[in-house]
Amino acid sequence: MEPILHEWGSLLLRWTHIIAGMAWIGSSFYFMHLDASLKATPDIPAGKGGEAWEVHGGGFYQVKKYLVAPSFLPEELGWHKWQSYATWLTGFFLLIWLYYYKSSIYLIDPAVMNLKPFVAFVIGMGGLALGWIAYDQLCRSRLGNNPMAVGVIVFVGVVVAAYLFQQVFSARAAFIHTGALMATIMSGNVFFVIIPNQHKVVAALKAGQVPDPYYGKTAKLRSGHNNYFTLPVVFLMISNHYPLTYSTPYAYVIVALSLVVGTVIRYYYNERHAGRGDKAWCWLVAAVCIILAIAISATTTPMGRTALGLPPLVSVAYARSGPPVEVPDDVQNIVMGRCSMCHASEPLYEGIVIAPRGVLLDTPEHIARNRDLIVVQAGLTHAMPPNNITELSQEDREVLKAWGAGK
Ligand code: HEC
Repeated sequence: MEPILHEWGSLLLRWTHIIAGMAWIGSSFYFMHLDASLKATPDIPAGKGGEAWEVHGGGFYQVKKYLVAPSFLPEELGWHKWQSYATWLTGFFLLIWLYYYKSSIYLIDPAVMNLKPFVAFVIGMGGLALGWIAYDQLCRSRLGNNPMAVGVIVFVGVVVAAYLFQQVFSARAAFIHTGALMATIMSGNVFFVIIPNQHKVVAALKAGQVPDPYYGKTAKLRSGHNNYFTLPVVFLMISNHYPLTYSTPYAYVIVALSLVVGTVIRYYYNERHAGRGDKAWCWLVAAVCIILAIAISATTTPMGRTALGLPPLVSVAYARSGPPVEVPDDVQNIVMGRCSMCHASEPLYEGIVIAPRGVLLDTPEHIARNRDLIVVQAGLTHAMPPNNITELSQEDREVLKAWGAGK
C-alpha cells in the first residue's frame, strides 16, 4: 500500500505545485506586460504610472498605475502573494516527499558520495538557506545599486551552486536542488522584500506621509531578478524528468546555458513590450545555447553516448541508485527475461535504441539499484512491460512484489 500512497501523494503534490506555479508566473507575466503597455494620462504624468485599456472575456478593463501611490488609497487592495507562497510550499513538500523521504532512490548516490540521509538533509536544506542569505546580502550591499554587477554575480553563484550540488548528490537531485535554490530566492524576494516593502508604503500612505521611494526601488530590483529566473527555473524543474539533461558530469554547464537562454528570451519580450523594438539577436543566442546543450548531453550522458555508438565515459553516475540489495535468482531471471531487452545499455528490442528513462536492468547490480522502481512498475502496477508486451505472468509479478516486501 505504501508505494501506491506515495505515488499518489507525489502526483497530487506535483499537480498542486504546477497549478500554483502557473498562477504565479501567469500573474507575474501579466503585470510585466501591463507595466510595459501603460500610457501617460492627464492625471498621471509620464514616469509616475499610466493607464492601459484591455479587453478580455467579453469585457473592457481600464487599469491605472500610480507610482509611488495615488492621492487616495481605498481600504481594500488585491494583493498578489499567495501564488508565490503556494508554489514554494508545494514545491518544498514535493522535494521532501520524493528526495528526502525516498533519499536512497532519488537523493543519495553512493557512487557520488555515500551520505547518511540526515547529513544529506542538512546539506540540501542548508544549501537552500545559505543560497538565499548570500543572495539577499548581495542585493543589500553597496553593489546592490549596480543591477548589472548583481546579475553577473547571481549567474556565477547559481552555476557554482549547481556544481557543488553535483559533488554531493545524485545527478537528478543536484539539478532539482539548483532549481529549488533559484525558486527559493524568488519566493524569498516576494516574502521578505517585495510584500513587506509594499506594506510599509501602504502604512506610510495611510498615516498621511510620503513613502520612501527606496522601498519601491529595491522591490523593483528583486522582481526583475524573479522575472529573469522564471524560464530557467521551469526548465530545471521539468528537465529533471529527462536524464539527457542531468546525467552528465557537465550538468552545471547545462544549468548555465539554461540561465542564458531564459534570460535572453525574457529580455527579448521585456524590450519588445516596452516598445524598444525587436532584439532578434536574442533568439540567435538562445538557439546557439540550446544546440550547445544538446551537443553536451549527446556526447557526455550514458544515453547519448549509447545512441551515438560511443564507448561509455567512466564514472558517470546514474540518477537512480541505492544501497546494495540482494537479488535472488528467480528475480534475476524474470527481469533478464522480461525487461532487459529494452532496459539495457544496448537494447535488443526493435525500435528501442537507448534504455527507456535511463533505467538499466541488465546486470544484478543495476537490478538491485532499481528495486523499488521495478516493484512499482511491474509488481504493484502493470505499467511495465508496456502493454505486457513480453508477457510477464501474474505469478512473476507476485515474485517481484515479495522481493520488494523483503520476503
Ligand atoms: C518493450 C520495451 C520495454 C520492456 C520490455 C520493459 N520496459 Fe520499462 N520502459 C519502457 C519504456 C518505453 C519506458 C518509458 C515509459 C515512459 O516514458 O512513460 C519504460 C520505463 C520504465 C521505468 C521508469 C518509469 C519511470 O517513469 O520512472 C521502469 C522502472 C521500468 N520501465 C521498468 C521495467 C521493468 C521492471 C520491466 C520488466 C518487467 C520493463 N520495464 C520492461 C520500455 C520497456
